Amino acid sequence: MTHALLKPTTLALALFSASLPLYADAVTDLQAKYAVDSTQAFSTETGQKLWNKRYQNKDGKERSCASCHGDKLTLTGKHAKTGKLIKPMAPSVNPQRLSSIKKIEKWFKRNCKWTLGRECTAQEKGHMLSYLTNL
Ligand code: HEC
Repeated sequence: MTHALLKPTTLALALFSASLPLYADAVTDLQAKYAVDSTQAFSTETGQKLWNKRYQNKDGKERSCASCHGDKLTLTGKHAKTGKLIKPMAPSVNPQRLSSIKKIEKWFKRNCKWTLGRECTAQEKGHMLSYLTNL
């Protein structure tokens, strides 16, 4: 009896979670956290601008998120310093993307420091997550 009742529920749950992209949990949680310290609603368009913005480095060279991840985020990127290949950032072609809060925060910290010379603000990170999850 219990068994018969459980089956459809389990199936429904499996179908429901299969319809959500892998990044959904991590990105929803992070954006809720970033929203606390933000004044504007997160925008895909602003996220795209921030992602492609060129920051002047101390040695006069320009850096942007695209320096390593490339201009087309559905394609493989290439690390500006080491030349190592970086899997596409777009979750539509690389479903593992943005599925771990720990990984996202670790790389935001490291990559913002390298690119902008400072950490990104909560506002900037929220915008960029909107951009990245709409690719
Ligand atoms: C110097 C090269 C480099 C630059 C510039 C760079 N990244 Fe990255 N990024 C990496 C590498 C390497 C990884 C880790 C490998 C991977 O995830 O494929 C990574 C991973 C990430 C991740 C984790 C993705 C995930 O699936 O969780 C995020 C988020 C990210 N980068 C954001 C940014 C942002 C925002 C910028 C611009 C401010 C930026 N990156 C610029 C090299 C770079």
